[in-house]
Amino acid sequence: MTNGNILEKLGMKALRSIDPETSHGLAIRALQMGVANAPGQISSARLRTEVAGISLPNPVGLAAGFDKNATALSGLAKSGFGFVEVGAATPRPQPGNPKPRLFRLSEDKAAINRFGFNNDGMEAIGARLANRPKDAVIGLNLGANKDSENRAEDFARVLAHCGAHLDFATVNVSSPNTEKLRDLQGKAALSALLSGVMDTRDALDRKIPVFLKIAPDLSDVELGEIAEVAQETGVDAIIATNTTLSRDGLSSPHKAEAGGLSGAPLFEKSTQVLARLSELTEGALPLIGVGGIGSADQAYAKICAGASAVQLYTALVYGGFSLAETIVRELDALLQRDGFANVADAVGSKRKDWL
Ligand code: FNR
Repeated sequence: MTNGNILEKLGMKALRSIDPETSHGLAIRALQMGVANAPGQISSARLRTEVAGISLPNPVGLAAGFDKNATALSGLAKSGFGFVEVGAATPRPQPGNPKPRLFRLSEDKAAINRFGFNNDGMEAIGARLANRPKDAVIGLNLGANKDSENRAEDFARVLAHCGAHLDFATVNVSSPNTEKLRDLQGKAALSALLSGVMDTRDALDRKIPVFLKIAPDLSDVELGEIAEVAQETGVDAIIATNTTLSRDGLSSPHKAEAGGLSGAPLFEKSTQVLARLSELTEGALPLIGVGGIGSADQAYAKICAGASAVQLYTALVYGGFSLAETIVRELDALLQRDGFANVADAVGSKRKDWL
């Protein structure tokens, strides 16, 4: 173990003994100050891949919600992740739900959050993105204001404002913490919303890819409809999945808190949704797998279930930022072990195991 790792282990222990939201703020500070693990870009011929026209040094990304306000972009660009999604950003700043609103479920290696899109708003976030590091792949998670008169339009407004500074944008209609937001996943509402967003995208000087992020708590019929609408409207990829409302199999004292559950208990469910989507779209749409990844084996399992790239967040709470580097390097070794020349060759190779 290196000195850096020992320090990180001690730091993680200290961070876990304080209130989770305060501890998250300190993790952001560590990235801003340049004291988080910073291996720089990690890549190889096996790891390099392409998703929806974006070239990624490796397929392991940071999921939305960690850097909601895009205040740690320089640190994140060096953290070893192949791509970074910041946000969610809404048109106007909003405070989110009252605290406490983030809970650690240590016994379950999980978290429950009900932040409710607390963020500085698109003006402040857009200004930070305008000064972003250019040597990283950075996208923005788009959200809607809680008190908006036209939530569907909010997504397009944030995209129009920030699009020039992004490599991709994600339509997030799957957060469980804004009342009725998930209703926008229904066929007619989703189709109208995505048409508006895609028109806005087409009007940008540089047409960045638009991703759609979905919930894990959808029926097979709903999933089929979403796959259909995504393809009809020309969405460039689907991110599966956001947090779940399910509380199956938990043992932590905080298990009954309201909000979205993330981390280890989400792995199976989100991977099943991913595999089903892969079957439904038959490779026509790239998929990004997220939910419960805490090891290279799990990142690899999502790729083999049908993901062209993966993202993670909650495992960092337990493993620290060096986990990104560990997962990327071990993933390279797993691909080599199984004789894959690159990530793309492994995508979907074990999908049937999840159906
Ligand atoms: C999230 N997630 C999230 N997703 C999103 O699309 N927009 C957001 O603003 C947020 N915010 C957010 C806050 C917190 C505290 C957590 C833990 C999660 C969901 C996240 O991006 C991811 O989809 C899930 O957490 C599942 O992945 P992990 O955490 O199990 O790796």
